[in-house]
Amino acid sequence: MCGIFGYVGLRSATPVLLEGLRQLEYRGYDSAGIATLDGGLQVVRSVGKIAALERRLRDRPLDGSCGIAHTRWATHGAPTEANAHPHTDCRGEIAVIHNGIIENHAALRRELEARGHRFRSETDTEVLAHLIEESYEGDLEQAVERALGRVRGAFGIAVMRDGEPGRIVLARRGSPLVIGIGVNEHFAASDVTALVRHTRQVLHLEDDEIAVIEPGGFRIARLGDGAEIDREVETVDWEVGDVDRGGYPHYMLKEICEQPETIRNALRGRIVLDEGIPKLGGLEAVMDEIRRCRHVAIVSCGTSYYAGLVARYLFEEFTDLTVEVELASEFRYRRLNLTDGTMVLAISQSGETADTLAAVREAKRKGALCLGLVNAVGSTIARETHAGVYLHAGPEIGVASTKAFTSQVAILTLMAVLFGRHGRLSLHEGRRVLTELMRIPELLERLLERRDEIAALAQRYADCEHFLYIGRKFSYPIALEGALKIKEIAYVHAEGYAAGEMKHGPLALIDPSYTCVALCPAGDLQEKTLSNMQELKARGGRMIAVATEGDGAAAAIADDVVEVPATLECLSPLLEVVPLQLFAYELAVRKGRDVDKPRNLAKSVTVE
Ligand code: G6P
Repeated sequence: MCGIFGYVGLRSATPVLLEGLRQLEYRGYDSAGIATLDGGLQVVRSVGKIAALERRLRDRPLDGSCGIAHTRWATHGAPTEANAHPHTDCRGEIAVIHNGIIENHAALRRELEARGHRFRSETDTEVLAHLIEESYEGDLEQAVERALGRVRGAFGIAVMRDGEPGRIVLARRGSPLVIGIGVNEHFAASDVTALVRHTRQVLHLEDDEIAVIEPGGFRIARLGDGAEIDREVETVDWEVGDVDRGGYPHYMLKEICEQPETIRNALRGRIVLDEGIPKLGGLEAVMDEIRRCRHVAIVSCGTSYYAGLVARYLFEEFTDLTVEVELASEFRYRRLNLTDGTMVLAISQSGETADTLAAVREAKRKGALCLGLVNAVGSTIARETHAGVYLHAGPEIGVASTKAFTSQVAILTLMAVLFGRHGRLSLHEGRRVLTELMRIPELLERLLERRDEIAALAQRYADCEHFLYIGRKFSYPIALEGALKIKEIAYVHAEGYAAGEMKHGPLALIDPSYTCVALCPAGDLQEKTLSNMQELKARGGRMIAVATEGDGAAAAIADDVVEVPATLECLSPLLEVVPLQLFAYELAVRKGRDVDKPRNLAKSVTVE
């Protein structure tokens, strides 16, 4: 949830650390802090965003070429300066930054206090600083190792100590940490996006590993027995521009507008049109096992969960698989009966979402084949699943997911056609879907040209207090996603509903304070949705319809219509969702919301 950045090298650490924190701010942003070794351990912290920390540092500059920095999203203890990381030991010699949760922190704290340690925060992290202090016998790495032997829970930590300059000790269990390799300098970050400005050469730490970075080198060892680990360096293929705003006022808008390109990237090299079959290299090794499966359980959270709901219809349309889609936070606690013929498909942009990861681990323990659909290359879910497919959407920085969603849906369409072509889906059908899928980026470009229209619409509905999004079949998950976007970034009440459920409750709510957003693309189910719209309209609410270009039926009922280009019904989610993303964005901007970093939310939810 929070962001970690560390630097050892020859440069002044503070500007490098601040830049790193700015890249990570989307992970957490209620307080931040930095520590460097500048003639002793120096710590500066502040409540609020990185800009507030920068202001503090102008009054109290920190020098030194070794430092660690943290941006926090509070879990234990309110977002105060005292609770901000880094935390230090009693003597102010050891500084620790931490992502994750120390589950037995209360017991450890009581024990440490009884032995005379003085705590200055309410955080679970501070116990680590005191434990390391107690374990220190002249070598920081060994002290960290011994201290971690006492804790239960999840951690990604970076530690340094006065008297051991030019050394940062890192350790990981459950919370991601990546080492960046430079020339005479090394970096550490909780997220690879923060490193690409400095280096493309990275190394992901695995769970239960400890590492030391120094200007001239690094080493990784296993926690527990200290066995040295030799791991190949990975090269990240992102450009620095991928993590910049590129002239857009917000990352979210940039990411919405990137979708024609990100969908092209998702499809590139993955379609063999002659044979009407997708080619997903990451699944080839397990294709025989996949073919034996009769059932797929899709697990994910948030927007990725809605991509899973779209996949349910896609898989049912094209394959013989039975499909269940479950929130990872529920799936992990079910008494699962994962029979031989079940595969589990985890969908996650970040590849680090704690519940999705836990669901994968549980499914693996029960012997299921686990596949991943992940954006962040080298992330934990990508590494822990048996096989998988990457989105190649580039880093997504805006907390509210947009481009990852459409890439997920595009690749889930490829998966459905691939699995279908090994079963009942004909060459002709396969070709038809894939040909149309390849046209989606171009259709999206056309749709995005109408941004001003959506902005004007948002202006007209800016005072609306309640939104009700409705849709059927493929449009139902899009109704859920459209409503989620409004909640996340505009902080306005919005609900997504299956259109057919209106009569079972929601209709009673409708009065003029409600705006209904009805998704009614041309197709078999359109008539039914149109009659739901009539019912809603009759109760006095305002109405926006998202309808197929040139279709007058929806326009006759709704107050406003957003037209999307005609496509196959199964691909309509890819087009319908984009105006809804833009609408939420424009509404949030009009309300003065912090679009990229909405209150109380974080991009990557690495705690349960
Ligand atoms: C957080 C983000 C959402 C995202 C969800 C799942 O809540 O704010 O945008 O959809 O996590 O994340 P994942 O990385 O697993 O797709």
